[in-house]
Amino acid sequence: MTKKVCIIGAGPSGLAQLRAFQSAEANGEAVPDVVCLEKQSDWGGLWNYTWRTGVDEHGNPCHGSMYRYLWSNGPKEGLEFADYSFEEHFGKPIASYPPRAVLFDYIKGRVEKAGIRNKIRFNTCVRDVRKVGDQFEVTARDGATDTETTELYDHVIVATGHFSVPNVPYYEGFDSFNGRILHAHDFRDAREFKDKDILIIGASYSAEDIGSQLWKYGAKSITQSSRSGVTGYKWPDNWEELGTAVDRVEGKTVHLADGTSKDVDAIILCTGYKHHFPFLPDSLRLRTANRLASSDLYKGVVYTGDSDMFYLGMQDQWYTFNMFDAQAWWVRDCIMGKIALPDAAAMEADWQKRQADEDALEDDYACIDYQGAYTLELIEETDYPSFDVQASNQAFYEWKKHKKKGIMTFRDHGYTSPMTGTKAPPHHTPWKDALDDSLEDYLQV
Ligand SMILES: Cc1cc2nc3c(=O)[nH]c(=O)nc-3n(C[C@H](O)[C@H](O)[C@H](O)COP(=O)(O)OP(=O)(O)OC[C@H]3O[C@@H](n4cnc5c(N)ncnc54)[C@H](O)[C@@H]3O)c2cc1C
Ligand SMILES: NC(=O)c1ccc[n+]([C@@H]2O[C@H](COP(=O)([O-])OP(=O)(O)OC[C@H]3O[C@@H](n4cnc5c(N)ncnc54)[C@H](OP(=O)(O)O)[C@@H]3O)[C@@H](O)[C@H]2O)c1
Repeated sequence: MTKKVCIIGAGPSGLAQLRAFQSAEANGEAVPDVVCLEKQSDWGGLWNYTWRTGVDEHGNPCHGSMYRYLWSNGPKEGLEFADYSFEEHFGKPIASYPPRAVLFDYIKGRVEKAGIRNKIRFNTCVRDVRKVGDQFEVTARDGATDTETTELYDHVIVATGHFSVPNVPYYEGFDSFNGRILHAHDFRDAREFKDKDILIIGASYSAEDIGSQLWKYGAKSITQSSRSGVTGYKWPDNWEELGTAVDRVEGKTVHLADGTSKDVDAIILCTGYKHHFPFLPDSLRLRTANRLASSDLYKGVVYTGDSDMFYLGMQDQWYTFNMFDAQAWWVRDCIMGKIALPDAAAMEADWQKRQADEDALEDDYACIDYQGAYTLELIEETDYPSFDVQASNQAFYEWKKHKKKGIMTFRDHGYTSPMTGTKAPPHHTPWKDALDDSLEDYLQV
């Protein structure tokens, strides 16, 4: 009997899984019946931009967290597919920090070439997964036809991402704030905040990047509050970074824990996201913090509570697309019986050891090396094309140094591709002056 596999989500992780099975099939191997259920009407996950916020056209929670004018916040040399380089896709070397539309085009290019779109059921939201005997019963609703299906699978691969369901804290006075309060998940267009005074809460990537967008598109002032200290970047003059938490809000006035206060027009909560799987029962549901070594996942992918179930891309991410590939190829080989699983105690010990190793890492550079080594570990156990992970690490190291040197200029630098060895050319316009983020504009010489 041919096994049946259900992939939930057609973002970069789910697409990596489809591509992994397709590549085995192209090599003449007998592969399982694979179906991918995707709640949006197109593929690409977060990279498939939507103007919608709140709920989607079918009434499901809107998945998109990306916004207009978003450019990659890390170098593309850290995420390049080993089986499909940027140069192959665009026919020429391109700069190192592509805008969203350019990365979306790159993601699509590989799966269009592989011809796997027919494996995906779009507009199909998974509502419930439960174990029935040795199989998984998966119930999903097709929003376009408003019909429900229930089917049995031998394996479920959860690839639903974990930067979509916002973590929304409450501070005293929010309910009577005389302005707009939104989470980064609902942020769409920085131009809305032109000439406005904005408070952002948080000190991680969303805070940095949304603040930078606000600055680039003409906000009057940016005040950044964080409960855990400052980032230390050299922010522009109208950006004040306060390493202090919000205490309370009164009218339009934000009172900070150090006793200072500031009047603002809007508050943007850049306070992170939750691993959230409303379609899973407790027995199958991953519970982990956003960290490099997730809890309860052997090799970062096999759910220790039920080893017929897999999760992709659940880690905190330096590496992204090529790490998802490494995971997807490994999961494919596990399902196809080419990789054997150890006993339950060994699987448990595996993630605990990975977490202990992560806890001992001294700085971000060590974290980059750690995730690079994890990616390579998986690659070496499959036929995914190996690549120069050290060259990707190097791009990340240089990125960090360039950010320290100039938080508004780091995207003007270029790095060497680990896949082709080509050094990226500079973009034709410095990032701070490049207001047009379209693919057409970006690819102009
Ligand atoms: C604002 C923002 C900017 C980012 N920028 C970068 C960047 O510059 N570089 C980088 O490398 N990474 C970036 N990331 C990280 C991002 O997580 C990865 O690039 C990537 O999108 C993760 O892929 P994924 O497939 O795991 O998840 P996602 O991209 O989130 O895709 C998950 C898919 O699952 C679907 N889905 C969810 N629930 C269901 C359900 N119940 N039923 C059916 N389908 C479902 C969703 O519709 C979606 O298509 C960014 C993240 C955010 C939030
Ligand atoms: N251009 C881009 O490519 C781009 C842009 C934005 C985001 N991203 C990606 O999106 C992902 C998520 O990044 P993120 O910054 O949204 O999440 P994150 O990295 O998890 O950071 C969450 C931030 O919120 C703070 N926080 C959490 N709870 C809080 C609370 N109750 N009160 C105050 N502060 C609180 C955290 O501070 P503590 O340390 O105190 O907990 C932290 O600073 C990353 O992978 C990132 O790369 C990319």
